[in-house]
Order: sequence, then structure tokens, then C-alpha cells
Amino acid sequence: MDKVVTCMAPVNIATIKYWGKRDEHLILPLNDSVSLTLDCDQMHSQTSVVAGPFVKKDTVMLNGHVMPIETNERLQRCFSLIRKLIKEKKGENCPEAQWNIRVCSENNFPTAAGLASSAAGYACLVYTLANAFDLVTEDLPAIARQGSGSACRSIYGGFVHWKAGKDDLGSDSTAVQIATEAHWPEMRIIILVVNDSHKKTSSTVGMKKSVETSELLQYRVNKCVPERTKDIIEAIINKNFVKFAEITMRDSNQFHAICLDTYPPCVYLNGVSHEIITFIHDYNDAAGHVKVSYTFDAGPNAFLFILEKDLDLFMSELIQVFPSDKSKSKYIRGIKSTNPDQV
Ligand code: PMV
Repeated sequence: MDKVVTCMAPVNIATIKYWGKRDEHLILPLNDSVSLTLDCDQMHSQTSVVAGPFVKKDTVMLNGHVMPIETNERLQRCFSLIRKLIKEKKGENCPEAQWNIRVCSENNFPTAAGLASSAAGYACLVYTLANAFDLVTEDLPAIARQGSGSACRSIYGGFVHWKAGKDDLGSDSTAVQIATEAHWPEMRIIILVVNDSHKKTSSTVGMKKSVETSELLQYRVNKCVPERTKDIIEAIINKNFVKFAEITMRDSNQFHAICLDTYPPCVYLNGVSHEIITFIHDYNDAAGHVKVSYTFDAGPNAFLFILEKDLDLFMSELIQVFPSDKSKSKYIRGIKSTNPDQV
């Protein structure tokens, strides 16, 4: 291979959150999760790969900084799974499996700030490597998952269901598309960037602490998520916005309740996040039904869901209450063409 392959992958926003692993090494989740993948021309990772006998050693650059691969188990795992696929496809002794790989990746939005950068990053890495070696197969979500769990959902566009599975080796822990990006074109997402600095507790550390200490986590995993997952998939298929929006808010709130039930607690939301939550509920109450919903990942930044018809009125009120010095809003115009596209 003497060409550079460059791909882009978008972030995905979970409406049913993945929180807690049953296997730390294979990154197998305790519960199912559901997400919506954004448009590739909005928040995305862009990754270039070059490989060949002339590349001296494996290197990864992220946002202009060299990443220490030797101490990064997840990067190493993605590389070795791709090499395993190369051998399966091209023969045990094929030269490509011995080549070193140089990777250069950039996010066009803040990294590690609770804006799903690792989902886009690992989906993009795996997809680009697979393209570079002509290996695009249905195994890609499983490989991306072992970089960052939520990355398996960014391999697909539209609405995606990551099934937790039961198997100890993870053969049934996989992402499937519920509906394509064309399914619900009226859906809009607004991202309110409350704080774009690095989060204090990474998702990996936070969810490990929750598994070890939260008494509520098992209740969520066994009693709440299965029914919610079924209901939100139904709401997505039927384009029932009120149901979709309510489940999304309840699940975000429950996820952050688990974070607070973790000991010592993981506090991801801040005062502005709580003001946004109050504002959304007041807005919906005044409207007489749910017109807009929120969800927060492991950070203070809000992802809002709203239908196109309600957008202009809502934005005019939002901007008055949260002028740009308080929160920077990014208005995402659509969720179209969200597969990681080769560029
Ligand atoms: O994939 P990770 O390890 O970055 O974990 C993601 C966890 C949440 O963003 C909080 C929830 C989710 O399902 O994306």
C-alpha cells in the first residue's frame, strides 16, 4: 500500500446510555444502549492512515500530539484485531500483516469533554484501517467497540441499538441499525456547549467506579433499561416524538443519578446544566406537552432533540435565556448521511 486513506466518522448521542461493563478487557456492556448518529459534516473525526514496508513503526497522532501506543491497551487491541483480519482475509504469511501503520487523526470539536469524541475517534480509526487494507466487513462494530464501547454505534448512521449480548466472548454484543438517517428527517439536534474542557473523570474510570460502588446500577440494568430500550425503539419506528423525548430525558436523569450514587460521586453536570434542564421542563409545561428533550453524556454539555416545526420559536427563547457567554450553542441542521464516509 503506498496510498494515504482518509475517512470521516461522526459522533453519536446515546438516548439510552451505556454505563457499566461486564468485561473490562473486551468492553462488554452491562446493558443495551440506543443512539442517534449525527451528520458526518457536523461533529466528526477525520483519520488518515498510511501503511507499508517503508513505515518504521506504528505511530498515532491525535490532534497534533503523539499518542503513546505502548501504554494504550485499546489502541493496541484495535491494531492487533485489524492485523488478525488481514491474516484471515489474505493469508497467515501475507506481507501486509507485518507492515507498520502510521495514523493521523483530528476531531473538529473539543476532545474528551463529554461530547462523544472517543466514539467518533475509534469508529473512524477502525473504519479507515479497514478501508486501507480492503477489509470492510460486519466485524467492524466489534473491533471499534474494543477501542471505545460507544464507538460501535458510530459505524452506522441513523438510529442504532447496541445489544449488550450475553456471551462471555462478546460474539453477540453488537450494534444494529434501527432506522436509517432518512427515517426521521424532521428530527433536529441542538448542542449546548457549556464547558469544553477535559472532563475530570473519564467514562472508563467513572463507569468502573459505578459498577464497584453504586447500589442503584443493578436496578437500572435489570429493571429499567430493558423496557426503556423496547419502548424507545418502538417510538423511533413510529416517529412518536413525545415518547422518544420523555424516555430520553428519564434515561439521562437516571444515568446521572447513578453517577451521584457512585462513591465517591462522579459529578458531570454543573449549575448551567441544571438550569438547562429546568428551562426545558418549564418550556414543555408552558407548551402543554413535550416539545423538546435533553440528554447529557459524561459532561455538562446538553444535547437537545426537537422537531423542525418547533425549532425557530424554541431557539428564539433559548437564546434569550442562555446568551452565548453562558453557553455556546451549536445547531445541527440534520442527521443525514451519517455513515463514516470515505473522503
Ligand atoms: O464509550 P465510552 O467509554 O466513551 O462511554 C460512553 C458513555 C456515555 O457517553 C456516557 C454513554 C453512551 O452510551 O454513549
